[in-house]
Amino acid sequence: MPKLIVVNRAGEETEVEAAAGLSVMEAIRDNGFDELLALCGGCCSCATCHVYVDADFADKVSPLSEDENDLLDSSDHRTAASRLSCQVQITDALDGLRVTIAPED
Ligand code: FES
Repeated sequence: MPKLIVVNRAGEETEVEAAAGLSVMEAIRDNGFDELLALCGGCCSCATCHVYVDADFADKVSPLSEDENDLLDSSDHRTAASRLSCQVQITDALDGLRVTIAPED
């Protein structure tokens, strides 16, 4: 099963198992991180699942959709590494993916 490294807002890293087919948001939430609110449940309408994807994986994650891009624009903390974690599907190619939970807007 692919591994995911989650960095919380305190900068602490935790390695979790993440089944392929889940979204990164689901994997983070299912592993008990309460900082990631994911209020809309993954339907790309809240932006409370904002994470930063490590540069090493930038070309391995699924591409940004127009809706995701628009929603990320509403965040004061958007960077080039920003993604909505509910829109990134876990695949075997993402084994070792490191994501950092973005500050709350
Ligand atoms: S959970 Fe709402 S946009 Fe990702």
